[in-house]
Amino acid sequence: VSLKPYNTFRIDANARYWVEISNEEDLQTLLHLADFIDTPKLILGGGSNVLLCQNFDGLVVKINIQGIDIAREDDDHIYLTVGAGVNWHELVLFCVKRGYAGMENLSLIPGTVGAAPMQNIGAYGVELEQVFESLTAIHVLTGKKRTFTHADCAFGYRESVFKRELKGQYIITSVTFQLDKLPTFHIRYGAIQETLVEMGVSEENLTIKAISEAVIRIRRSKLPDPAQIGNAGSFFKNPEISTTQFDLLKAKYPALPGYPTGNDLVKVPAGWLIEQAGWKGYRSGDAGVHTKQALVLVNYGSATGDEIMILAKQVQKSVQEKFGVSISPEVNIV
Ligand code: EPU
Repeated sequence: VSLKPYNTFRIDANARYWVEISNEEDLQTLLHLADFIDTPKLILGGGSNVLLCQNFDGLVVKINIQGIDIAREDDDHIYLTVGAGVNWHELVLFCVKRGYAGMENLSLIPGTVGAAPMQNIGAYGVELEQVFESLTAIHVLTGKKRTFTHADCAFGYRESVFKRELKGQYIITSVTFQLDKLPTFHIRYGAIQETLVEMGVSEENLTIKAISEAVIRIRRSKLPDPAQIGNAGSFFKNPEISTTQFDLLKAKYPALPGYPTGNDLVKVPAGWLIEQAGWKGYRSGDAGVHTKQALVLVNYGSATGDEIMILAKQVQKSVQEKFGVSISPEVNIV
């Protein structure tokens, strides 16, 4: 089976077996099938955060569990339990339309609900963990169902327990979100403020719908649409460096942006470093660095996973040599 339609990088790798699952029971049955117990498994949601570097000699499981249900409600909050296969942006639009606040800054992020907690998706000043209540997941080996609380997930910047200690062990089947009835607006991010002004939205008529629209505009202007150019969003994470190293670099490169994150660390945008190292818009064959956002690697057509990886390594090496900063992939390499 070609996985090309199932990964947004549009890499043409093959899987030996492929199955699409639309409910928890089928998933548990599948995991217990004697034929597949020892087969390596790759779980795919929207396929928007993976780079496939080889054919996969195992079973690819695409999770397509649907459903958005109101779990409960109190004076201040609505709790929604959402199937892992629901498209993330469709959930955001559902919430914005009904006035359930909290995820509007996360508009237009590609991928599915089940994949979102894995890497604690984030954008424009909000991270998934701020609207996360709990999730259910099935253990790959035992088929047992478990609930994970916020604390259990050990969220960090583009991190969770599912990328670390429990990597490959659980399949997320549903996520429960806590949304606010009364919105708190997150508009500290410069680009949001500028776009709201362009849209003619002032503080008095600010709504979560306006924020969602602003984020959609910003993303459309900077990030390549995976339907047109293969990509997986930011390829690298933004590195954190020591305040000392930041000050030294800043003396040499006064324009270097940086955001203190506490503990004597400063987060610097990898996109800036990559652009300054001369890679923005670079292309070799069909592998490239996006013209409008250097943090995004792109596949212009028939690049292989290995070709993207070669480019990624060149970029890492050159950023290391120029700035002495090491950057690591945010995308899962398979
Ligand atoms: N910058 C450059 N050149 C570039 C790209 C960025 O100089 O080619 C500079 C910008 O001028 C700005 C700074 O870098 O000063 C930050 O850029 P931007 O606001 O575009 O955000 P980012 O750090 O590049 C992160 C997330 C994105 C998220 C945006 C907005 C990571 C790895 N990426 O990108 O998330 O949408 O912030 O919040 O943290 C993703 O994870 O796939 C993703 C797209």
